[in-house]
Amino acid sequence: MAYLLGIDIGTSGTKTVLFDEKGNGLASYTGEYGMQQPKNGWAEQHPQDWWEAVVDGIRAVLQKSGVNAGEIAGIGLSGQMHGLTMLDKDNKVLRPAIIWCDQRTAQECAEIEALMGGRDRLIAITANPALTGFTAGKIRWVQKHEPEIYEKCAHILLPKDYIRLMLTGEYATEVSDASGMQLLDVPGRCWSDTVLEKLGIDKALLGKVYESPEVTGVITPRVAELTGLKAGTPVVGGAGDNAAAAVGTGVVRSGRAFTTIGTSGVVFAHTDMVTIDPLGRAHTFCCAVPGAWHVMGVTQAAGLSLKWFRDTLCADEVAVANQMGCDSYDLINKQVAQSPIGANRLFYLPYLMGERTPHLDSDCRGAFVGLSAMHQKRDMVRAVMEGVAYSLKDCQSLFGQMGLNINHMAACGGGAKSPIWRQMLADLYGCDIMTVKGEGPALGVALLAGVGAGIYSSVPEACDAAIQYGDKCAPDADAAEYIKNYEFYRTIYPALKDVYARLADL
Ligand code: XUL
Repeated sequence: MAYLLGIDIGTSGTKTVLFDEKGNGLASYTGEYGMQQPKNGWAEQHPQDWWEAVVDGIRAVLQKSGVNAGEIAGIGLSGQMHGLTMLDKDNKVLRPAIIWCDQRTAQECAEIEALMGGRDRLIAITANPALTGFTAGKIRWVQKHEPEIYEKCAHILLPKDYIRLMLTGEYATEVSDASGMQLLDVPGRCWSDTVLEKLGIDKALLGKVYESPEVTGVITPRVAELTGLKAGTPVVGGAGDNAAAAVGTGVVRSGRAFTTIGTSGVVFAHTDMVTIDPLGRAHTFCCAVPGAWHVMGVTQAAGLSLKWFRDTLCADEVAVANQMGCDSYDLINKQVAQSPIGANRLFYLPYLMGERTPHLDSDCRGAFVGLSAMHQKRDMVRAVMEGVAYSLKDCQSLFGQMGLNINHMAACGGGAKSPIWRQMLADLYGCDIMTVKGEGPALGVALLAGVGAGIYSSVPEACDAAIQYGDKCAPDADAAEYIKNYEFYRTIYPALKDVYARLADL
C-alpha cells in the first residue's frame, strides 16, 4: 500500500493529513496560528508560523499513523491563495506576508489597470480585473510604500510555495495558485511578460510554473531529519485551496461545482474551456486538471462572519460548549433553528473584509439592517448565516449568466457541516447539495501527489478512486421564502454603496 500526504496551509491553521491510496484519512493534525490586523482592512501573517505548523503536522501524522515514511509516495501542498511572501537572497523573510483578505491596495489596483492600458486589456491576459486581494496589488504596494524592502527582495512566493521552498529548496509554483497573482497569462498558463514589464516586476523573482500534478522537487535531507519524512520523497505542484478543494470534492469535469464555507466562501465550477466574465465579477483561474480552468465567485467573510459573531457575542455559548465538551457552533446552530426564516425581518451583509463577488468593493463593510428591540441573539445569528447564503447565491447566479450549466453541487468547508446552512443553499440555488466524505483541499492535493507519483493515471481517475459523496439535501417548501428574502437582500448594497465610500473617507 502506498500513502499520500496532503498539507493545506490555511488562514486559521495548517491541516496535515496522511491518506492511503483509496483516499481514506489515516491521521490528521491541525496547527493553528493567528492573523495580525495592524490597521482596518489590513491582514498579515508570519511565514514562520506556517512552517512551524507544517513541521508539527508532519511529525504528528507520522507518529499517530505509525506509517513508515518510506511508504509515502508523494506530498501535495495546498494553501490560502494570493498571499505575498518576500524573501531576500538568503531566503530570509523580509516582512510579514500580506495575505488574501488584506484590502489595503485599492489605489494600487487602479494604477495597475491604468498601467495595463485599461481593465479590459488586463482581463484579456490575466482573466480578472485588478483586485485588492490579489498579489500584484500587494507587490505594487511594497514597491511604493516600502521601497527599501522591495530593493532587497530576491524571491516572491505564495504561502504554500514558501513551504515548498522550505521542504525542497525549490522556487516553484503551479498554475492554479499562480492565476491568483494577476501576473499569469491565464489562457496561456505561463507568466505574462507584458504584465511583468508594465508593473516593473523582474521575472527572476518568481518561481517556475508547473501543472498541479507535476513533481516540483523532493524532500531535502535536512527536512527529513527535522520531520521524519524520507529524503527524496516527491512534492508535486499541488493547488491553491479552492482548486485543491475541487479535486477533493471530485469537481474535475464540466457541469460539476462546489460551494465551500471556510473563512471565505467560494462557489466554484469546473470548465474545460476558458470562460471569462467580461465584467470581472467572477474569477477565472487555471484549475488543477492540466489544460482546464475554473470559474469562481468569492464571499470574503463567510465562515469568518459566523466566527466573528461567535467570538464577539457568544462567550456564554463557547463556555458552555467547553464545559460540555461539544462544538460551540452546534450550540449556535440550535439557536438558529429557533428563529424563523428571515430572522424576523433582520438582514446581515457579510462584508466584514470588503467584498469581491459581485460588488468588487474593498470599502464596503458588514451591516445588520432592520435591527429592532424585539430581536434576540438567535435572530442575529440566523441573519448572519442567511446573509452569507445570500452572498453565495450572488456568486452562483453569475455562473448561469456566463453560460455554465451546473448539474452537480457539492458542499465543503467547516460551514458545510451545518445542515441548516446546507438547506439554505439548496433552497436558494434550487438544486441538491451533496456533502463529501473526506478532507477537502488536503485530500485534493494528496490525490494530485498520487497522480505525480504514478499511482493514478489522471486527476479525474484519482477522484473516481477516492471521492465518496454523503448526505444529499434537496430544495424544500421554504425555497420560495428564501428567494423572496434574497430579492430584498439584493437591494441593500446599492442603497448603502455611497455610505460605504463616505465611511472609508471619514
Ligand atoms: C480565493 C481566496 C480565498 C483564499 C483563502 O481567491 O482568496 O479562498 O484562498 O482561503
